[in-house]
Amino acid sequence: MSASSQKRTVLVSGASAGIGRACAVMLARRGDTVIAMGRRVEALQSLANEAPAGSIEILPGDLNDKAYLDRADGHFARCDVFINNAGVLRYAPLMDLSDDDIAWMFQTNVMAAVQLTRRVARHMVARQSGHIVFMTSIAAREIYRLASGYCATKHALSAFARSFRLELQGFGIKVTEVAPGMVDTNIREGSDHPAVVAAMQARRFSPLTSDEVASAVVYALESTPNLCPDLIELRPLGSV
Ligand SMILES: NC(=O)c1ccc[n+]([C@@H]2O[C@H](COP(=O)([O-])OP(=O)(O)OC[C@H]3O[C@@H](n4cnc5c(N)ncnc54)[C@H](OP(=O)(O)O)[C@@H]3O)[C@@H](O)[C@H]2O)c1
Repeated sequence: MSASSQKRTVLVSGASAGIGRACAVMLARRGDTVIAMGRRVEALQSLANEAPAGSIEILPGDLNDKAYLDRADGHFARCDVFINNAGVLRYAPLMDLSDDDIAWMFQTNVMAAVQLTRRVARHMVARQSGHIVFMTSIAAREIYRLASGYCATKHALSAFARSFRLELQGFGIKVTEVAPGMVDTNIREGSDHPAVVAAMQARRFSPLTSDEVASAVVYALESTPNLCPDLIELRPLGSV
């Protein structure tokens, strides 16, 4: 991939691992300045060490901490692009998920994501430009056994993404939804219900890589000015 012609400042939530980390590295190597969010300071520092010197600024904190978001607002004001990627997941049969599990997924995947987007988008509206990428999922349009709570959060996040698009397009702001199927990250490591373990062992396809998802994000960000890629769905071959 060649370097991007237009250098941007890109805010990435959930940049300490998985898909967000791959996006951060790929964009930094293409010449963008990346502001990397996540709670784990050491993981963010290791990300910064892997990218070209000075290309990644780390902004550690918990997206559910309002004081952290208040302190970060000056950074939000600098962003041309926001990759709204942080998320959590717990798979289990619906009747075995705890109320706390469901609330935890909604709090991070929906409430925190929407609150952060509104903060960042206010600055984009003032500048009349910007691009926001929501990392939803194939689970934003389909319901899977063992994934009910997670599917519900991604359906909700997708609805918000489409609403943001409707309301922000008049300000010259693009909103893209990138919706992958299974990706090879650690997001499922806390899902140890026996039914989930058995389903994972029976899987007959290979997950996507984080780099494959990051390439779709790069494609969206490098679209020509009048073209807004609204929804990019990515499925592992053989997964349907
Ligand atoms: N993996 C898949 O199969 C898949 C498929 C479709 C969509 N997705 C979506 O893609 C996104 C990234 O998933 P992933 O697979 O890359 O997961 P991951 O490897 O577990 O990474 C999740 C990221 O979110 C951050 N995060 C979680 N809670 C946070 C909080 N309260 N405050 C700040 N940061 C928080 C984590 O950072 P810290 O732990 O450092 O805070 C980490 O950087 C998620 O929205 C997920 O739903 C994943």
